[in-house]
Amino acid sequence: MESTIEGAAMPNAVILQSEGLHEYILDTAVYPREAEPLKELRKATASHPTAFIGSSPDAGQLMAMLIKLVHAKKTIEVGVFTGYSLLLTALAIPDDGHKENEGRFDFAFVDADKENYLGYHERLMKLVKFYKIKMAATSAESSAENSAETETLAAAVTLGKSKGN
Ligand SMILES: C[S@@+](CC[C@H](N)C(=O)[O-])C[C@H]1O[C@@H](n2cnc3c(N)ncnc32)[C@H](O)[C@@H]1O
Repeated sequence: MESTIEGAAMPNAVILQSEGLHEYILDTAVYPREAEPLKELRKATASHPTAFIGSSPDAGQLMAMLIKLVHAKKTIEVGVFTGYSLLLTALAIPDDGHKENEGRFDFAFVDADKENYLGYHERLMKLVKFYKIKMAATSAESSAENSAETETLAAAVTLGKSKGN
């Protein structure tokens, strides 16, 4: 089984209330399903001073499942960092899918400056096709005292609804 230290598991025990349970899920269900390029990227990112802001592989696999569920071909992402979520999106869309800067999108992922999420939401509601899925990473202040660290807790999924589609 893969070491979560080596793999830089995100401190995501807040939802599960148990770091041990989180590690068990990663070792038995998440890492075995993680594509090799994503594994390499995650390990390369682990030594980055702000590695904790990267998408976690478990959230990534949920995202990949959603992308496949809606047969997304055209996607957009705000907040790339070292590109884990970008790469998993590229691996999840079909060969004739693509990532673009403008146009109508099947899937949008926002994982950037949290204070601007309302603006991203309003813009993406116009860009994402009707009843496709918009996914935004949420964050919460770390419970550790005197720490400005935030950690990704979960992926909030909302149904996009835009006019004229
Ligand atoms: C939480 S990280 C993204 C993690 C990434 N999704 C992943 O899978 O590893 C947030 C990223 O958003 C970038 N960012 C912050 N504000 C931004 C903005 N206004 N526009 C675009 N990117 C922004 C940061 O530089 C950082 O790389």
